[in-house]
Amino acid sequence: MAPLCASADLLPMQPRIVPGAEGTLILLRLPEGHLVGYRNACPHMGIELDWEAHRLLSRDGRWLKCTGHGALFRPEDGVCLAGPCKGDALTPVPLREVNGTVMADG
Ligand code: FES
Repeated sequence: MAPLCASADLLPMQPRIVPGAEGTLILLRLPEGHLVGYRNACPHMGIELDWEAHRLLSRDGRWLKCTGHGALFRPEDGVCLAGPCKGDALTPVPLREVNGTVMADG
């Protein structure tokens, strides 16, 4: 397991980008407290979701958004609900919180 960041640094619906073993990762705490992680690579063209600006959420704050062509992803499972890769999904990264630290699990 590799440490990624402090648990306290992940506030609900405020995604963070951290270095991973292969590129960067998106870490996101959902409103009910569950933590999700995804590879920061859009299924449309493989680029980082925030390549144009350091923003990862839609204007209303409900969806993860790719700045490439505007694809919107459901935070809970990374499935693309709108945009050029509709029906595809972000690649999940299993996470675990241990003693106040978020770890990549695997
Ligand atoms: S690269 Fe993400 S929507 Fe096109």
